[in-house]
Amino acid sequence: MPDALSDAIHWIESHHPSHIAVLTGAGVSAESGIPTFRDAGGLWETYRAEELATPQAFARDPALVWRWYESRRALVRQAQPNAAHEALARLERSIAGRGELTLITQNVDGLHARAGSSSLIELHGNLFRVRCFEEETVSERMDPFDQMPPRCDCGSLLRPDVVWFGELLPPGFIERAADAVARADLLMVLGTSGVVHPAAGLVSMLRHGEAIEVNPARTPLSRLARFSIQAPAAEVVPRLVAAIEKSLP
Ligand code: OAD
Repeated sequence: MPDALSDAIHWIESHHPSHIAVLTGAGVSAESGIPTFRDAGGLWETYRAEELATPQAFARDPALVWRWYESRRALVRQAQPNAAHEALARLERSIAGRGELTLITQNVDGLHARAGSSSLIELHGNLFRVRCFEEETVSERMDPFDQMPPRCDCGSLLRPDVVWFGELLPPGFIERAADAVARADLLMVLGTSGVVHPAAGLVSMLRHGEAIEVNPARTPLSRLARFSIQAPAAEVVPRLVAAIEKSLP
């Protein structure tokens, strides 16, 4: 067992954390077969972010942007939640009535919800929701579109209901996430490179709690974490969750 993992488990056993916040990023879905953004072979290596995930790119070529989102939607439809998603969903159920768990994700793949998590803040939106440009209405659309770019019944373009570069997060989301972190006695930071704000700034909003990071690579958040475990999430998260469940009051 890596030293940092056994140290983190000892800390859990002696501190009995029951108010838990979790921040996840693309690395949590890596073992479900979904490429991350910034690792070698990640999504931003194949496509330049400014070409695809901005309001300007969409205005210039909505069909190109939509084809990229359709390929991601197709990949995620076939993927399954992995052991990390499942352990976090289980923790939400076992903590009910004994504490609280808030799961904050930057992921738009919906795998946390598919694993059964409901106390979920999807900071960057969801690939399977669309928004009408004109009416601003949001709806769920799981199936592939036959028209490219897809349009609303009103005739206007639909866009993915995700946050693009240069856009603000949905109102109230970061505030709710920051409140959960401020109340937490433990923050788990899982599979994020920690470079995209405001999500990355949540770690410094811990008041009395400690952070445990799980990521095979070191990140700018590693030095803020009390324990930085350099290993894959699907391997380590179930073990941390088991330790938390065992130590719950
Ligand atoms: P990144 O691609 O930036 O970072 C993924 C992180 O996951 C890296 O630090 C990897 O080392 C780590 N990782 C890889 N495999 C892992 C594994 N098996 N277990 C644990 N960690 C692993 O993804 P994010 O930090 O999520 O925003 O990126 C943040 C935001 O940038 C995304 O939400 C997206 C992107 O622009 C929007 O689309 C608005």
